[in-house]
Amino acid sequence: MLVRLLYASRATTPANNSVHDSILEQSRARNPKLGITGILCFSDNLFIQVLEGGRDEVCELYNSIVRDGRNQHVRILSFEEIRERRFGGWTMGQVNLAKVNPAMLLKYGERAELNPFGVSAHATMALLDELIATALVVSRGG
Ligand SMILES: Cc1cc2nc3c(=O)[nH]c(=O)nc-3n(C[C@H](O)[C@H](O)[C@H](O)COP(=O)(O)O)c2cc1C
Repeated sequence: MLVRLLYASRATTPANNSVHDSILEQSRARNPKLGITGILCFSDNLFIQVLEGGRDEVCELYNSIVRDGRNQHVRILSFEEIRERRFGGWTMGQVNLAKVNPAMLLKYGERAELNPFGVSAHATMALLDELIATALVVSRGG
């Protein structure tokens, strides 16, 4: 059974490129074996990630992420059974949230600020879809 989990968390310390690179390296090494696909969005203090795959695998990975000291305040935004993957070809796509402009934020939220903890999961997923469509994806992994 396939599921999709969307969560957001805060970086424990202002994250830099080396933190992002090491998370992506780990993800791209492990996710194919776990059958997990998805997308990881980050700014210097925030992570938003979509994980898709089998229910056990997604739940186990989510539990390790909650325990991972590089992030905190991990909040599930949505969890759903899905018929098909949205990120099937992506071992872990990468989106830099620093590139999001105020107009894009205002389209889906009350203020021009990125606050996945204060808006609906639907609004966050719509923003991610737009980021993907407007080619703010840095890379898709494998
Ligand atoms: C924001 C964030 C996203 C992560 N995403 C993944 C991922 O997609 N796949 C993965 O294997 N590890 C990911 N990790 C790393 C895991 O938390 C964990 O370090 C790794 O799975 C090894 O876990 P283990 O030591 O319990 O085996 C992520 C970590 C953070 C902080």
